[in-house]
Amino acid sequence: MGRSLKSLNCIRCAPSHFKYLFLLAIVCGAIFLFFTISNTTVDFFLSYETPTSPMDFRRSSIPESDEGFTINTVGCTIPGLRPFDDSIKKFITPPDISQCRYANISLLGSNDTHIWVIHERLQYYNVPDNVSFSCCYKPFYRPNTILDITSNDVDERVKYDTCVMFADYIEVANEFVKVSCSYHLKIIYESFFLFAPKKPFISYQAKEKKVNFTDLGRNLTNKTSYNVIVIGIDTVSRLNFYRTMPKTLTFLKMKGAIELLGYNKVGDNTFPNLTPMLMGIKDTDLKKTCWPDLRSSFDNCPIIWKWFKEAGYYTALGEDSAKLGTFNFGKMGFVGNPTDYYTHTFMHEAEINVGNNKDFNSFICMGNKYFYQVLLDYIEALTRTLKSSRLFGFFWEVTLSHDYLNYPMAMDYSYEKFLRKLDKSQYLNDTVLVLLSDHGIRWGNIRHTKQGRLEERLPFVQILLPPSFRENYEYAYNNIKQNSRRLTTPFDIHATLMDLIDLNKIKDEIIDSRRKTSYANERSISLFLPIPTNRTCKTAAIDDHWCTCYKSRKILDSDKKVIDAAQNLVKHLNVLIQDQPQCAQLKLDEILDASEMMVGTQHEREKEWSEIMVVVRTLPGGGVFEATLRQDEAQWMLAGTVSRLNLYGDQSRCVQHYQLKLFCFCQ
Ligand SMILES: *[C@@H]1O[C@H](CO)[C@@H](O)[C@H](O)[C@H]1NC(C)=O
Ligand SMILES: *[C@@H]1O[C@H](CO)[C@@H](O)[C@H](O)[C@H]1NC(C)=O
Ligand SMILES: *[C@@H]1O[C@H](CO)[C@@H](O)[C@H](O)[C@H]1NC(C)=O
Ligand SMILES: *[C@@H]1O[C@H](CO)[C@@H](O)[C@H](O)[C@H]1NC(C)=O
Ligand SMILES: *[C@@H]1O[C@H](CO)[C@@H](O)[C@H](O)[C@H]1NC(C)=O
Ligand SMILES: *[C@@H]1O[C@H](CO)[C@@H](O)[C@H](O)[C@H]1NC(C)=O
Ligand SMILES: *[C@@H]1O[C@H](CO)[C@@H](O)[C@H](O)[C@H]1NC(C)=O
Ligand SMILES: *[C@@H]1O[C@H](CO)[C@@H](O)[C@H](O)[C@H]1NC(C)=O
Repeated sequence: MGRSLKSLNCIRCAPSHFKYLFLLAIVCGAIFLFFTISNTTVDFFLSYETPTSPMDFRRSSIPESDEGFTINTVGCTIPGLRPFDDSIKKFITPPDISQCRYANISLLGSNDTHIWVIHERLQYYNVPDNVSFSCCYKPFYRPNTILDITSNDVDERVKYDTCVMFADYIEVANEFVKVSCSYHLKIIYESFFLFAPKKPFISYQAKEKKVNFTDLGRNLTNKTSYNVIVIGIDTVSRLNFYRTMPKTLTFLKMKGAIELLGYNKVGDNTFPNLTPMLMGIKDTDLKKTCWPDLRSSFDNCPIIWKWFKEAGYYTALGEDSAKLGTFNFGKMGFVGNPTDYYTHTFMHEAEINVGNNKDFNSFICMGNKYFYQVLLDYIEALTRTLKSSRLFGFFWEVTLSHDYLNYPMAMDYSYEKFLRKLDKSQYLNDTVLVLLSDHGIRWGNIRHTKQGRLEERLPFVQILLPPSFRENYEYAYNNIKQNSRRLTTPFDIHATLMDLIDLNKIKDEIIDSRRKTSYANERSISLFLPIPTNRTCKTAAIDDHWCTCYKSRKILDSDKKVIDAAQNLVKHLNVLIQDQPQCAQLKLDEILDASEMMVGTQHEREKEWSEIMVVVRTLPGGGVFEATLRQDEAQWMLAGTVSRLNLYGDQSRCVQHYQLKLFCFCQ
């Protein structure tokens, strides 16, 4: 990282830098101390926060946020991105998806305990009377006896029980059920039902599972704990979440969810991003850990739910697609049951029997219901069934969001409704809910834009902590809030989830002692600890190819782009002071330094916009200013803030505003 980038970023770490300390001491000694102690960023004393719109700076509305950058730390600066950027707008269109309601209308209704015939709909199926009409209730399950554990479809094994006939309604006694209804012995309707019955809690035999649970060091049964629910929506960048799921986003914001702005993916597609999240290791290390080859199953892998299970949690793995399952797509899946609740068997049967509306990669509908909705309803049912126990659930939606940028729009309403229901049932009181994605869209025209390339690498993460968390784990809470604007990865999610298994590990005094240990260069850092500001892609184990942090490249001061950028910076400074006639108009004296700010590797870099960081001296007064300017087509705009790098002394005695003082030379 170049010197100039360091100096740019060091504005953020000002307290350790004597130059700024000195300046601050003069300007606001006491206040500085207060802010240092309270661990708040001090940068707004040094820099003038501005919006990103081209040269639109009105002093009356000085924004406090640093919208010019997504994150801006010593080790990593990610360019500022706007959800509705001009380069992206043209890709936003309402999705054109055929609805599941075009499937056969549903002849059966159900709730948590019963399935019944909707008699009024019989006429739709040309059934004039119910004398020759009947339905067959057929439970199915994943048998424990395995004939051939090496067979490719060992995870797809299934056994159907015999029929129980009914013509009106039937009480449900199973997890997975297929119902076929016939008239005069001809099947006229078929439907699949997924239930979440309470199961006995069967603890692991740790020895059998070949996992060393003593690493945890404690028996965690019956300690204070929260449910932990991770819900994934495949292929949604942070900004695409803003664009396509505004209702869900608004609800989460209203509830105080914490968003990770600097969450950078570590691998191309789902698997290499979920392996670090669920196991804390790189997918390429699986070979030597627990998964020697494609023909092996994942049973011996150290997947996080094993630890939750050992701590007394019920565990669940639910995905809305069997074919595209995280551990099944081109892989063997599991031989045993990975979790207490495992939907793969159900989804596989539903897909091959009543899956319809196949779009590119997956069936979107199960009968007349979206597969993603089947999953959401299932999660909700589980929370009802297990409300007096603890649940660790990992759920993943892929069917609707995987292939098309705008499809998530179709799910927004349902996700919001789902969250509202969990909230209303007060389940969220005791639950840590993580809503996230693995990466942004990896193909399509948006990927040919610079923003699209960055979005692909910056999936969304929203973490909703229960209200009591804030009170009981104040340090952990403050840290995770602050980490919102740090460089983070799926490895950190793993460390964070591990911390939730034993809440003693995040008590204030423990956090206090943990933060004194040297973890700054660790690959996985719990979000309940302060993520170091000097974290780089390298220390965070993000390959260069996926890294969205700027790299700076020195360019000549005489470069036309540099001169343009410098002149635009001075123009901008003059706009800032335009309402202050006592301040002299500034002129460009000299360009002291210039770098091009670049992201990603050379060969993939598109030239949509470029950003130049310049350091200039102005006259009169010799003020030295540093700023990053973005050129988008012909427009220049400011990315982030302008910093003053030398003292203004009494040059600006004629203005009182602490920020304007940085720019004003009193004439
Ligand atoms: C509707 O039901 C008929 C008769 O069972 C079946 O052949 C057809 O595939 C169903 N259509 C859809 C879209 O499921
Ligand atoms: C489910 O439906 C059955 C039959 O209609 C009804 O008796 C039962 O009360 C319902 N249960 C719930 C929880 O709504
Ligand atoms: C036949 O249908 C009627 C309503 O149309 C219902 O009340 C009755 O219970 C049904 N008979 C049987 C055997 O299910
Ligand atoms: C399990 O881990 C603990 C602590 O790391 C270690 O002392 C112990 O020997 C391990 N046991 C086995 C069977 O590997
Ligand atoms: C944990 O402790 C409880 C009660 O103290 C005990 O019943 C249980 O067997 C223990 N579990 C394990 C896995 O040691
Ligand atoms: C464990 O927790 C349950 C539910 O909170 C409680 O009813 C039970 O008394 C606890 N058992 C022990 C040994 O603390
Ligand atoms: C959930 O939290 C709300 C507000 O914080 C409180 O009024 C309510 O009693 C809590 N419910 C449960 C079941 O703890
Ligand atoms: C970050 O700072 C810590 C000390 O605060 C240091 O131990 C670590 O080596 C630094 N990491 C990098 C990548 O500079």
